[in-house]
Amino acid sequence: MCGIFGYIGDKICLPYIVSGLEKLEYRGYDSAGVAYIDNEGNLEIRKVVGKVQNLKEILDLSVNSFIGIGHTRWATHGGITQQNAHPHVDCQGNIAVVHNGIIENYKELKDYLIKRGHIFRSQTDTEVVPHLLEDLIDNEGLELEYAITNIFSKLNGSFALLIMDKRRPNVLYALRKQSPLIVGFGNKENFVASDIPALGEYTDKFYYLKDNQMAKVTRDEIRIWDSNVKKYIEINPIKIPQERIRAEKNGYPHFMLKEIFEQPLVVRRIITELERDPSGSFEIKDIINCDIPWHKVEKIFIVACGTSYHAGYYTKFSWEEELPYWVEVELASQVHHRNLRIPDNTVFVTISQSGETADVISTLRKVKEKGYKVLSLVNNPQSTVARESDYFINLRAGIEIGVAATKTFMAELVYLDLLKEYIKYKLFNEKVNLEKWVLLPTYLENYLTNIKDLVFDIAKKYYNKKNFLYLARGRNFPLALEGALKLKEISYVHAEGIPAGEMKHGPIALLDPETPVFGIVYQDDTYTKMLNNLEEAKARKAPIIALGNENDRKLENLVDDLIPIPSIDPFYYPYLGTVVLQLFAYYVADLLGREIDQPRNLAKSVTVE
Ligand code: F6R
Repeated sequence: MCGIFGYIGDKICLPYIVSGLEKLEYRGYDSAGVAYIDNEGNLEIRKVVGKVQNLKEILDLSVNSFIGIGHTRWATHGGITQQNAHPHVDCQGNIAVVHNGIIENYKELKDYLIKRGHIFRSQTDTEVVPHLLEDLIDNEGLELEYAITNIFSKLNGSFALLIMDKRRPNVLYALRKQSPLIVGFGNKENFVASDIPALGEYTDKFYYLKDNQMAKVTRDEIRIWDSNVKKYIEINPIKIPQERIRAEKNGYPHFMLKEIFEQPLVVRRIITELERDPSGSFEIKDIINCDIPWHKVEKIFIVACGTSYHAGYYTKFSWEEELPYWVEVELASQVHHRNLRIPDNTVFVTISQSGETADVISTLRKVKEKGYKVLSLVNNPQSTVARESDYFINLRAGIEIGVAATKTFMAELVYLDLLKEYIKYKLFNEKVNLEKWVLLPTYLENYLTNIKDLVFDIAKKYYNKKNFLYLARGRNFPLALEGALKLKEISYVHAEGIPAGEMKHGPIALLDPETPVFGIVYQDDTYTKMLNNLEEAKARKAPIIALGNENDRKLENLVDDLIPIPSIDPFYYPYLGTVVLQLFAYYVADLLGREIDQPRNLAKSVTVE
C-alpha cells in the first residue's frame, strides 16, 4: 500500500511525479505529497490530505526542479493528516524520505532518536528514517551513501524507500525490503516507482529491485547495490512493451467497468497461450518444467486473501470432486495463527493478483522454509510471490486498475480449472476436451451484452437498500461471498454472503422487507434446498433477486427479479454468474455516486499484514 515515485533527469520533474502518483493512486489515496530540490538548492516539501488532484491544485508544476520524490498514502501509523503525509524530513530539512511498508521497530528507534535530541513532527513510522540518517551523518560522521546502506540492518519490517538529500542534488536512493520497487531506465532521465503502470509512459526498460537491494539513481545511470554481498552488482534490465503496461479507460467511465467487459478477451488470451497437443493433452506454458510428483501428492493447501481466496474456495469443490486429494483452503491472514500439522506430500497453491499481498508472502515463506512446494497464480510475473514460489502461473489478465478485482478473479477461476484438468491428465492420462474453454469467451461476450441492461434495471430498483444477503449452497457459496464483497467494497452498502443452510441458525433474524436477498439458484445439486430457503425468505417478506436458469418458471414465480443464465452446459454458470455479480455491484455503486475505482479506505495491493 502507498505509492511512491521518483524522477531525476533533464526535464522539469513535477509533471512526471504528479502523473506517476495519479497512476499509483490505487495503492492509497489518504494524502499525497512531493519533495523536490529547486535550482537554488532548496528542499521544498508540499503535502495535502486527500487525493493527488488536491496536491496538483497547490503545486506550481513548472517550477525549475529536476529531481524529486512523491507519495500517495494509505495510512497505517498515524491518522490521515497533513503532518503525517509523506515526504518526511530530518530536523534540519536536508533529507526527504517517502516510504511504503511498515517499520516495525520504529518505536524503539524513535525513543532512541528523541533521546539524542531529534524532534519529530508526525506520528508515522516513516519519520524515523530521515532522523536516523541525520544522526548517522551528523553525529556518527557517516557519508550519505554509507549511512543509507547501513539502515538495511537497522530497520525491521518492510520498506520501499526513496531518499533524497539537498546536499547531494544529483542522486536519488531507492531501497527495497519486502515492498515492491521498480527502477525505469530513460534517456538522460531515470525513474523509480512502486508499480509499473506509473512508468509505462516513459520507458520500456525496467529492473525490479530485490529484497535488500538499493538503487543509486542519477540522471545518466542506475546502479544496484546488494546488501547481501555489500557491493554494486551487475543486473540485466528487462524490456516490457508499452502496450502491456499502459492502462487506459478506452471510453468506459471507470476502469472497473472496462475490466468487467475485458473478461472475454482475458479468457481468450489464456486459452491461446496453452500449448495444445493433438493427442488431447495440453501444457500450461509457465509450469512446463514443473516436477511436482502429482501421483504422490496427498493434500492441496490453497492460501489467498479476499477475492483471490474466493477463487480458491470455489475451486476446492471441483478439485475435491475430480482429483484424489484432500483440498483445504485458508485465508492467508489466518494461516499465521495456525499450527499447521500437514502431511509431507502437501502442495501449497497461493493465489494473488498483485503477488505482493503481505499475508500471502509471509505464508509462502513460512511453508517454503518447512520444505513444502509452492505453486502460485499471480498477475504479475515480476512480483515477490512469483519470484519466491517454486512454480508460478501468470494470470495474463493485463494490468487491473480498479481496486475491486474483476478480470483477475475470472483469470483465477479459469486457470484453477485448467490446472485441475492438467493434473488429471498427468494422473490418469485422461484426454482433455478444451472446446468448452474455447467457447467460453464468446459466451461471456454475448452474455455481457445481453444481460447488462437488465442488471442495471434491477440495481436501480434496489440501490437505496442498506443491507443485502447473498445466499447460496455448496460450490456456489464462494460466489455469494464474492458477490457480497464486490458490493460492499465499492458501494459501502452492507452485504453478507451466507450459506443458505445456515440462515435458520441465526441470520434469518435479519430478514425484513428492507433487506433484499440475492440467491444463486442453479439447477444443480443445491437447487431444491435453495428453493426452500428462498421460500423461507419470502415468507419473511424479504425482496428476492435470483441468479438462475432461464425457463425456470418455479423460480421465476417465487422471486421478485430473476437474472437468467442461458440453458447451456453448467460448466459456464460460475463464469456467467460472476459477471452478473460484478455488474450488479458496479451499477449500485455508480447509482450511489461512489468513487468506484478507488473506494474509500482500500488499496489495490495490501502490502502490510
Ligand atoms: C477485492 C480485492 C481484494 C483482493 C485481496 C487480495 O476486490 O481486490 O479482496 O482480492 O486484497 O489481493 P491479491 O489477489 O493481490 O493477493
